[in-house]
Parts: sequence; structure tokens; C-alpha cells
Amino acid sequence: MKKTLALTLLFAGTLGAVAVAQATDARARFMAANCAYCHGPDGKSRGAIPSLAGLEKGYFVQQMKEFRDGKRDATVMQKHAMGYTDAEYEAMAAWFAAIK
Ligand code: HEC
Repeated sequence: MKKTLALTLLFAGTLGAVAVAQATDARARFMAANCAYCHGPDGKSRGAIPSLAGLEKGYFVQQMKEFRDGKRDATVMQKHAMGYTDAEYEAMAAWFAAIK
């Protein structure tokens, strides 16, 4: 009986983790879409604005924090950076880093 319960919990836990991963993914995709206008579809810029696709996660998060805190000069990025939390920077960083 105890074993069945443990297995059930384990199984439910796995399903929960998958659901969370998918939700995070959908949210990251949604946030990243806000950057596409300037940084290009999928973060691949076609103009003078830097590409985001393939940027290293740590670098990405660092830049967002520096824009937010005014430590890195920005024309528009400070405003954008201020709209997101640290956790959201991480989610977007993972999203863009995964694009080849
Ligand atoms: C209105 C145009 C615009 C939008 C929208 C925009 N950016 Fe930017 N981004 C820029 C520009 C221009 C720069 C260069 C720095 C500056 O002048 O602000 C930049 C620079 C960056 C950099 C630094 C890249 C590097 O190689 O160092 C990151 C990271 C970044 N943006 C992330 C984002 C994210 C994430 C979003 C969406 C939430 C976003 N940007 C939305 C215009 C934009």
C-alpha cells in the first residue's frame, strides 16, 4: 500500500514537472516575442541591433541587469529591462541561448 502511494506521488511529481517546464517555455516564448520587433524573429537580427539568438545565458542575464540598473548605456533597453523580473531574464536567456 505504502509503495503504491509512493509510486503514485512520484508519477504525479514527474507530470507536474513536465507541465511546469512547458508553461515556462510558453511564457519565455511569449516574452521573447516582445523582442522580435527589434532583435529579429527568433532573436536573429537583420540590422544594426545585436542578435540575441545563441547568446550565453550568463552574459544575457548580466546585460539585462546592467541595462535595468543603468550600468550599461542604452537607448531603449533600459525601458525594456525594467519590465521583467530576474526570473524572467533567466527564462528569456534560456530561450534565446537554445536558438542555434
Ligand atoms: C525598440 C527596439 C528594441 C526592443 C523591442 C528590444 N530591444 Fe534589446 N536592444 C535594442 C538596442 C538598440 C540594443 C543596443 C543597446 C541600446 O541601445 O539600448 C539592444 C541590446 C540588447 C541586448 C544586449 C545584446 C548584446 O549583444 O550585448 C540584450 C541582451 C537585449 N537587447 C535584450 C532584449 C530583450 C530580452 C528584449 C525583449 C524583452 C529586447 N531586447 C527588446 C533594441 C531593442
